[in-house]
Amino acid sequence: MMFLDRALSEEPKGLQETFSMWYSFMEEKIEFGHFVSILHTKSHCARVLLYCLKIARMAGLNDDETTVLCKASIFHDSRRHDDTRDVGHGARAAENFRRFSKKGLIPFDERVYLIMAYHDRDDELGKEKFREKGLAAAIPLYDIFKDADAIDRWRISPTALDVRYLRTDWGRSLVEYARNLVRETT
Ligand SMILES: [Fe+2]
Ligand SMILES: [Fe+2]
Repeated sequence: MMFLDRALSEEPKGLQETFSMWYSFMEEKIEFGHFVSILHTKSHCARVLLYCLKIARMAGLNDDETTVLCKASIFHDSRRHDDTRDVGHGARAAENFRRFSKKGLIPFDERVYLIMAYHDRDDELGKEKFREKGLAAAIPLYDIFKDADAIDRWRISPTALDVRYLRTDWGRSLVEYARNLVRETT
């Protein structure tokens, strides 16, 4: 599939199939914000999806947990107003996801909603929300998602990623992989 073909060819068949399914959903059904983004494109979301799937394998996540990460990957930057930090685009993306589920296009999941709504906020604020909603067990998914989103910061500049802020060993283990993937696909 397009620009990630080579990277995907190194992955197990199952991962490739899961990737294709969510990538097609994004391409066919999700319209991104009404400005021409350079940094928060569907290509960025596709790479985040790939990082999430790689981490899901490393972490031994089950299908249910993996699906949470996939849904967050394809929607999380779909409602940006610009390419700045744009705090609040997470909440808008979460609402966009809710709209899709109300239309019957995708099953709703509170964990996906929260990961997106707080992906542009302080970790502590996000984690508090998960605890409040009785979803503390999904906090590791929030950490994984934020790391997968962060390691794609190589696309912004060679100094845009500060690895000290990564939350998981899985995220840290993919830093060089992400650097190469961004170089190859942007
Ligand atoms: Fe974002
Ligand atoms: Fe992002």
